[in-house]
Amino acid sequence: MKLSVLLVISAPVLVSAQQSLWGQCGGIGYSGPQNCVAGAACTTQNAYYAQCVPGSGGGGQTTTAATTPRTTAPVTTTRTGTQPAGTGLDTLIKAKGKKYVGFAADGSGQLNDATLSNILRTEGGSLTPENSMKWESIEPNQGSYNWDTADLLVNFAQTNGKQVRGHTLLWHSQLPQWVKNINNKATLTKVIQDHAAAVAGRYKGKIYAWDVANEVIADGGGMRTSVFSQVFGDWTFLDVAFKAAKAADPNAKLCLNDYNIDYTGGKLTTFIQVVKDLKSRGVPIDCVGTQTHTSVGSSNIGNYKNTLTMLAGTGCEVQITELDIAFPSTSSSSALLNQQSNDYKTIVGACMSTSACTGITVWGVSDKNSWIKGKYPLLWDDNFQKKPAYTGFIAGINS
Ligand code: G3I
Repeated sequence: MKLSVLLVISAPVLVSAQQSLWGQCGGIGYSGPQNCVAGAACTTQNAYYAQCVPGSGGGGQTTTAATTPRTTAPVTTTRTGTQPAGTGLDTLIKAKGKKYVGFAADGSGQLNDATLSNILRTEGGSLTPENSMKWESIEPNQGSYNWDTADLLVNFAQTNGKQVRGHTLLWHSQLPQWVKNINNKATLTKVIQDHAAAVAGRYKGKIYAWDVANEVIADGGGMRTSVFSQVFGDWTFLDVAFKAAKAADPNAKLCLNDYNIDYTGGKLTTFIQVVKDLKSRGVPIDCVGTQTHTSVGSSNIGNYKNTLTMLAGTGCEVQITELDIAFPSTSSSSALLNQQSNDYKTIVGACMSTSACTGITVWGVSDKNSWIKGKYPLLWDDNFQKKPAYTGFIAGINS
């Protein structure tokens, strides 16, 4: 009797609660507020996740999910593997209102590895191709595309109900020589447009977010020297890339991604200004990616929440796109493992307490696969055993 009275009293409170901008408002297994605050509309991202995004609706009104149909069939939601899906990091973070935990992976060596792929299936909700969608990999010669490795990852994601972060359409590194040789703005404009049309077009409807441009800010601030900045002479090569990506896949979120913007300084200042300028020119940008390659015990980690808040000030969704926390050297110790665990907790916790921060991608699964050889930066060790960092990640989600 007492219980039923309590339920009757508490029910209106639950119904009238409003989710904040970027918070979760629906999806399988979700039981929180379904109305968004004023100025936000509840939009379905996938079967497991609907989110309050800027737009009409909210303010206590009944919200409407997913008004824009995608051009492909919805991804399947079959989950396989030995670990119950309900215990994975992605499930835990979604239950707290965020969109995903993802991992970088690539190639048949990883995606067909039973242990690694089981972790991707049970712990993650998103995949980023570590190398296969980069220009040099996917279009090494003009108009000649290598789709196989990227297709493998997108198909793995579709089969297993995972989102994909596309990485990356425009980057000064891993850029084929034929692009670097271009010295004419009209030609380079057409080449960027053709590349985006081909790559983003092939995966239209299957990519949650694209790193449209990567690392365009110079270390210390200003414009990075590249064929793009030199031929255009200003930032408008970004306008070309973002508009071309929008034309190729109108429903993908379009991000500007960079590293060393997880601490204050000239690079972060320039990054934020570039994003604001893009928005003021009407360029379609939805999200900012802070890579977050950092190191154990770094003093920047204590200030991480502040930089997320600054990035959120652009009005864009903020995504942590390449998280790893490296040891200072190849020497390991329990003290370092514990500090790394604390550092993961701090960074993940900062995302949890920043409403614009919607998802976290870790740059690889096991230390064995990391690009930082021998510095133990990830959540699983060389033998795919969970490290204290994994526990720290969960503590961050629950903080
Ligand atoms: O595939 C070739 C292989 O055929 C060849 O035998 C071998 C010889 O070195 O190289 C292989 O390519 C390597 C590729 O990774 C795939 O393993 C490249 O040499 C190597 O340079 C490349 O490194 C990647 C790096 O980007 C390139 O800049 C890393 O895996 C990848 O983790 C890293 O990722 C970047 C992000 O894209 C952007 N942000 C920074 C991040 C870390 O550097």
